[in-house]
Amino acid sequence: MNVELIDLHPATADLEQVVREGLTAMPRQLPAWLLYDSEGSRLFASICEQPEYSLTRTEIALLNHQADAISAALGPGVMVEFGIGNAHKVSPLLKALKSDLFVGLDISRTALRDALEGLGREHPQTTMLGICCDHSQLADLPPHPLLDGRRRIGFFPGSSLGNFSWDNAVALLQRFRRLLNNGPLLLGLDQPRSPALLEAAYDDAAGVSAAFAQNLLTRLNRELQGDIDVDRFHYRARWQSSQSRIEMALVSDSPQTITLAGQLWQFEPDEAWITEHSVKYSPAAAEELAKQAGWRIQQRWHDDNDQVSLHLLLPAD
Ligand SMILES: C[S@@+](CC[C@H](N)C(=O)[O-])C[C@H]1O[C@@H](n2cnc3c(N)ncnc32)[C@H](O)[C@@H]1O
Repeated sequence: MNVELIDLHPATADLEQVVREGLTAMPRQLPAWLLYDSEGSRLFASICEQPEYSLTRTEIALLNHQADAISAALGPGVMVEFGIGNAHKVSPLLKALKSDLFVGLDISRTALRDALEGLGREHPQTTMLGICCDHSQLADLPPHPLLDGRRRIGFFPGSSLGNFSWDNAVALLQRFRRLLNNGPLLLGLDQPRSPALLEAAYDDAAGVSAAFAQNLLTRLNRELQGDIDVDRFHYRARWQSSQSRIEMALVSDSPQTITLAGQLWQFEPDEAWITEHSVKYSPAAAEELAKQAGWRIQQRWHDDNDQVSLHLLLPAD
């Protein structure tokens, strides 16, 4: 098995800066990638197995069902997946494309290595190149002889674009166009639906989504010598229809002061520390977003209920 890793994870000094900026903002919010240390990645994989969270199961079924049609529309090239998680989605595409090389990006170092090793066992003919990085800051894929002169095909499933605000999503899609050297992008998004179903999906009865959010505080305590009492924040997920998004937050139970990297931060009672958003895109909104980022949607595949879609994006010019 052939797995190679390139480590471009942000340094601790960068982490301090990111946290300072995020906690100074009102409302307080850090970038979603901070949710994914090795425990965060493990908890996210468990969220995907909860009965309330159907997105992963539906997208995998759609990929399995449409892999031949999708790969024919994508054309030949090297698959580059942004935020691979446990890499449970790309297999049918690698098979259909008969790939000799797969490039997987993720911010979570241990999870990236484990995922690529697992995928490599399934696809022994495919070289696995992992890049541990924040893809929203990456200027180019690091040079690699295996990538030289190869057409690139992007894959961004899991509705992960929904973690970004509209402007940041436009910027990310523009960046992906550069990173892919104008190759195609297969983008997975899900649509708005009943608020009750969405709120349950992001606040499962087993409490895994809550543990995932709380793990952020545990991580900050560990990496920035913090003193946050995790039990003094409770988890909340609520649908915000005007922004077509779920907002996930940790809400302070009482007035409290926390310390991170030697700096004090005060929280009011009921103050929300937003851990992430998940924006849901109608087909029309997805069309507009792609257009603003310099892409056009060439084709769309969706499940029987038209909740989860895979969009084939091509450069608009
Ligand atoms: C919502 S999960 C989706 C995982 C998988 N793609 C799926 O569809 O199930 C997001 C994944 O992207 C990674 N991630 C989040 N933000 C990232 C960033 N800015 N740069 C690189 N990876 C990121 C996380 O570590 C996690 O594995």
